Amino acid sequence: MSDQKKKPCVVLGVTGGIAVYKACELLRLLQKQGIDVYVVMTKHACQFVAPLTFETLSGHPVAVDTFDRPATWEVEHIALAKRADLFLIAPATANIMGKMACGIADDMLSTTVMATKAPVMLAPAMNTGMWENPATQQNVQTLMNRGVHFVMPATGHLACGDSGAGKLEDVAVIAERAVEVLSRKRDMEGLRVMVTAGPTREALDPVRYISNRSSGKMGYAIARAAQLRGAQVTLLSGPVSLTAPQGVTMVPFATTQDLLERATEHVDEQDIIIQAAAPADYRAKEIAAQKIKKQNGEGMVIHLVENPDVAAALGRNKRPEQTFVGFAAETNDVLEHAQVKLKKKNLDMIVANDVTAPGAGFDVNTNIVTLITEEKMMSLPLLLKDEVADHILSAILELRAQK
Ligand code: PMT
Repeated sequence: MSDQKKKPCVVLGVTGGIAVYKACELLRLLQKQGIDVYVVMTKHACQFVAPLTFETLSGHPVAVDTFDRPATWEVEHIALAKRADLFLIAPATANIMGKMACGIADDMLSTTVMATKAPVMLAPAMNTGMWENPATQQNVQTLMNRGVHFVMPATGHLACGDSGAGKLEDVAVIAERAVEVLSRKRDMEGLRVMVTAGPTREALDPVRYISNRSSGKMGYAIARAAQLRGAQVTLLSGPVSLTAPQGVTMVPFATTQDLLERATEHVDEQDIIIQAAAPADYRAKEIAAQKIKKQNGEGMVIHLVENPDVAAALGRNKRPEQTFVGFAAETNDVLEHAQVKLKKKNLDMIVANDVTAPGAGFDVNTNIVTLITEEKMMSLPLLLKDEVADHILSAILELRAQK
């Protein structure tokens, strides 16, 4: 926070949707936590609740128009942007997310949020169709990759009469997450962290390959969270369609053999290695030089050979002060299989996920995992991958403190 003697400050951005009235209650909840709240509203938000309501509740003028003349000589949107210890937009419409993702600053709120150096958190609320629209989902992903925190919308009955995802999350939950981010320590400063993420591609011929469903979301979330907590992060990434998190050193890989080589080059300088990638266990014995032709109705046999086990290879040279964490993607006997991998790969912790459980595993924004060490096991509920990432990092720090 910017000043230990002053109250922490949340700048609350309010955008136009029926959930605007809930932002009044959110403001109150934040104040009860000892937080000073300044409000910025869009003109559309003012159609739902008058600025006077927020002004009276917050005890501060509400900023709406970039060209309003403030009582002081400060440039208002810059002053607000600097004042924030956290910039929270709730409710956040599809429109504000689209503007933020594209760098558009055309009103008080979008200019202020662009100017801030404080952490930014969005609590979206909109119609289900708008929420599920690929453009919205892509904007969410872009913003997440830039380190924007999200309190995802809940599912329920919406004001427009539809039922589905898009309802503003309970304001108590939003306030709790805001306080969490405000009090987040830079507790990984001075640590070097290597994260692996995404799938591999093992070529069969010049046009085909064997791969898997890993999107890289879990590994990217860990890299982002570690970077936000002050670590120096190297992210080894397979072929994914995610934007590189800001401030992270990116190292691409394509095959399992590639991953082994890149990881071996970087492992020595790391304090913590977290392997969320899904490397292929097998590759083609021979890669055809030309596109393999159809066999006139005959079946085709592809001879596969085993790939190196990257985690096991790195684990063999682990130094005592290093912490190695792996993932286990399982479909049955999850905990038993994970425990075997913990030992076999000489890991300090394994994160077991049942990739068949709804909301867990490949290519979703959430996961359900159990953190397993030699001494203990901690099962987490369904959480955003960003939240899972923070739990994993906290558990790693706890483990290192006990060493
Ligand atoms: O990328 P997402 O879409 O977000 O999905 C996340 C995830 C499901 C991919 C992730 O949470 C996960 O479980 N990653 C591990 C996938 C995997 O390869 O699991 P495994 O049980 O086969 O491997 C165990 C560990 O050994 C992993 O840390 C893996 O990186 C590593 N491994 C596996 C095979 C191999 N040849 N070399 C390895 O190093």
